[in-house]
Amino acid sequence: MRAPPLSLLPLLVAAAILSLSVATDKLDQTASIAGNQTLESAGGVFRLGFFVPPGSSDARAYLGIWYATIPEQTVVWVANRRNPVVRPPGVLTLSADGRLVILDGRNATVWSSDDAAGSGGVATRALAQLLDNGDLVVTHGGESQSGSTGRTSVAWESFDYPTDTLLPGMKLGVDGRSGISRNITSWRSAADPSPGAYTFKLVSGGLPEFFLFRGLSKTYASGPWNGAELTGVPNLKSRDFIFTVVSNPDETHYTYYVSDPSVLSRFVLNGTMGQVQRFTWHRGGGWSGFWHFPLDPCDSYARCGAFGYCDVGQSPLCSCLPGFQPRSPQRWSVGDGTGGCARTTNLSCGAGDGFWTVSRMKLPEATSATVHAGMTMDRCRQVCLGNCSCRAYAAADVSGGINRGCVIWAVDLIDMRQYSEVVQDVYIRLAQSEVDALTAAANRRSHVVLVIALVAAISGVLLLGAFAFGCLCFWRKKAAPAGRDNELPLRATKLKLRRDDQGFSDENKMSSEEDDLDLRLFGLAVILAATDNFAADSKIGQGGFGPVYLGRLEDGQEVAVKRLSRKSAQGVEEFKNEVKLIAKLQHRNLVRLLGCCIDGDERMLVYEFMHNNSLDTFIFGDEEKRKLLRWKTRFEIIAGIARGLLYLHEDSRLRIIHRDMKASNVLLDRNMIPKISDFGIARMFGGDQTTAYTLKVIGTYYMSPEYAMDGVFSMKSDIYSFGVMVLEIVTGKKNRGFYDDELDLNLLGYAWTLWKEGRSVELLDEAMVGSSCDHSQVRRCIQVALLCVDMHPRNRPLMSSIVMMLATENATLPEPNEPGGNIGRSTSDGELSQTQSELTVTATDTR
Ligand SMILES: *[C@@H]1O[C@H](CO)[C@@H](O)[C@H](O)[C@H]1NC(C)=O
Ligand SMILES: *[C@@H]1O[C@H](CO)[C@@H](O)[C@H](O)[C@H]1NC(C)=O
Ligand SMILES: *[C@@H]1O[C@H](CO)[C@@H](O)[C@H](O)[C@H]1NC(C)=O
Ligand SMILES: *[C@@H]1O[C@H](CO)[C@@H](O)[C@H](O)[C@H]1NC(C)=O
Ligand SMILES: *[C@@H]1O[C@H](CO)[C@@H](O)[C@H](O)[C@H]1NC(C)=O
Ligand SMILES: *[C@@H]1O[C@H](CO)[C@@H](O)[C@H](O)[C@H]1NC(C)=O
Repeated sequence: MRAPPLSLLPLLVAAAILSLSVATDKLDQTASIAGNQTLESAGGVFRLGFFVPPGSSDARAYLGIWYATIPEQTVVWVANRRNPVVRPPGVLTLSADGRLVILDGRNATVWSSDDAAGSGGVATRALAQLLDNGDLVVTHGGESQSGSTGRTSVAWESFDYPTDTLLPGMKLGVDGRSGISRNITSWRSAADPSPGAYTFKLVSGGLPEFFLFRGLSKTYASGPWNGAELTGVPNLKSRDFIFTVVSNPDETHYTYYVSDPSVLSRFVLNGTMGQVQRFTWHRGGGWSGFWHFPLDPCDSYARCGAFGYCDVGQSPLCSCLPGFQPRSPQRWSVGDGTGGCARTTNLSCGAGDGFWTVSRMKLPEATSATVHAGMTMDRCRQVCLGNCSCRAYAAADVSGGINRGCVIWAVDLIDMRQYSEVVQDVYIRLAQSEVDALTAAANRRSHVVLVIALVAAISGVLLLGAFAFGCLCFWRKKAAPAGRDNELPLRATKLKLRRDDQGFSDENKMSSEEDDLDLRLFGLAVILAATDNFAADSKIGQGGFGPVYLGRLEDGQEVAVKRLSRKSAQGVEEFKNEVKLIAKLQHRNLVRLLGCCIDGDERMLVYEFMHNNSLDTFIFGDEEKRKLLRWKTRFEIIAGIARGLLYLHEDSRLRIIHRDMKASNVLLDRNMIPKISDFGIARMFGGDQTTAYTLKVIGTYYMSPEYAMDGVFSMKSDIYSFGVMVLEIVTGKKNRGFYDDELDLNLLGYAWTLWKEGRSVELLDEAMVGSSCDHSQVRRCIQVALLCVDMHPRNRPLMSSIVMMLATENATLPEPNEPGGNIGRSTSDGELSQTQSELTVTATDTR
């Protein structure tokens, strides 16, 4: 039996160390802690004591709780945030009536905890204990010295009084029974824990919803809780991070847990940024940001006013709900949507009204909506119709995919945004004539009513807003054929483009032979015939620019028709010119643009059809699908994308910055040759410099830090996205929402950590286990990817270097830096700025 002595040894050592400091997790009425003495929770996770915030000029001391195990003091709770100890040393005691009391050096009381238990006089056997979850709990009536146990009751706990941080298990919300309302309020500054400008809290009434306030005004809302999700923050659930919103007559609150309790995770309201942020501690050291809100311009509270909704995929961002129009079209067109929308037709208030369904939306603010828990949807509709002030209704609870209860809005609908992940219908009340018009518009449009109904259900607002509305205009034009110019006649045959090259710069001027190059201008009838009137089952995808349909031309050729849902700022000629230019970009690794179709406001692009769909369907598919992509294929895909991008960036006549490189924009042909799609479309929308366009991709997880923060876009931003994609191809995991078992969270951070530890090969998709692969090639890809995701654009290599680095075995590549893109990270400027110049030199040498 040699084991017991060996295993006891560490305990003895630990005990010896503990006894040196005042290491206990409890404080009774006879003890106190003063100055730099601390309590430490039993498992050594948290520490309680006095601290002076760094940067605080006059050494004000606060009683706080911070993590015991990590080097940088991260305070998660402050007792006396408004009343610092200015005359040291501070002393914490447990008073005779069982309250925590902070005294200063002159024995004056600086702060004391509420007498929540109402003991009102003497409290016997009071005890304060710091728990491993970070909660400081005061109990009364615990174990007496004689050993008899009285009834222990929790008299007070720090979890009931959060400061700026929510730890796992803490609640944010209200408790009707105790009357406690828990919010988090930012620190005034890093040196001053007193309450700052921002508060994040539950606003009661209607459906539960959490709001970020700056002073008295709302700046961000989580979206109402619909029983399944907070509709403004979809996709946050994961296996390792669990949050719930409890809502019952007794209490309403948000709380979260991490499945692995050894992981340090905190949710903090950052007053500098005006954001709620979630961080986890990295094994490698340092807090890494998992998410933060508000995240993009559409998160800004009530961004599009009453009856408007926001969509980062649209320009301008704001659109009106169907049946509504901007109150001030001028301000609307310059991007100010705050004025909101007004009804196109007034309600008749009675039998003359109907409903139009919108879906895939963050629900409108529902704090002043009325909730009827037991009501059926039919009854809900009747109640809404029967009350003149009702503007919309929806199910109150959709958990498990079942509609329960009813929520009725008798107020303007505000703070809506498009979210394809939210699965819930909202029924908007409109005049019946308006509903008929919307329906007719849908019908009239080449009998594509099926598409409207189906696709509206599928992709919601994108269509209802931009497309159904567009259809309405189209229909109106058709209904009143007189006097509309500017409309191309419907032509069923192939047209030749006119040879007028005005508007081209000399550099781009094309010779006349080239003009006849295969670009075709398709008539609407040809497209309708090819796609079976945009039949629902010919729809093969939905991109940021609109739905994509599979079509078969008369001669049997299969094509992909992208139906642009956004209005182009350009006229017909300019648009055609752009299409001509883009169609000239031809490369083995680019999807070929065959032609376009222009009809009224409709614009469509016709591409060669790719049989194997997009890359994401493979790398993020099920195991079978991922297995199909062996390492060799993956490597060739990476190299192919790199060559395609090199052509766009450096070798083509036009320099094209893709702006939206991601796995779903890489298509695979029959032979699994990767082809980049959607390049150059930004140009077709007129001016790829506009900020309006820039806003489009915000929120995707391929975005470089400089683009995310400043909207600055360059080739180097594409290169960043390329790096992210390479890591995704290697790992088979999405950067978005990646969640590692050890909670390194971010795919980039995780890849970097493994890389540093020389374990990068472990990143390989498990689906490839067993198949042979060249590990040095894998390492090279990961290293190149990490170089591409450098925080600083100038450190990222150019595509020409990347292609070379990928192709050269035994090449000595530069060491990557820690990647950018995490919130709260900024490496100092000037580090390793040489890397880029070295790479450039190498690249030029080989030319
Ligand atoms: C605590 O403070 C005392 C006096 O200010 C000092 O001598 C001692 O080193 C401090 N202990 C620690 C662990 O910082
Ligand atoms: C504070 O109170 C303690 C205990 O009652 C006493 O020993 C100490 O002298 C007091 N200090 C001052 C500055 O009054
Ligand atoms: C936040 O909660 C505290 C009590 O914990 C309360 O005093 C304060 O007024 C609340 N702040 C807001 C903005 O509701
Ligand atoms: C619609 O209602 C508004 C306010 O109730 C009124 O000002 C407006 O004239 C009405 N429009 C029509 C066409 O009746
Ligand atoms: C109509 O709805 C509003 C808001 O829910 C409510 O205050 C009002 O009493 C209702 N009116 C009728 C007649 O039910
Ligand atoms: C607030 O956020 C910024 C940027 O993410 C970070 O540098 C800073 O440390 C954060 N402050 C707190 C108190 O977390």
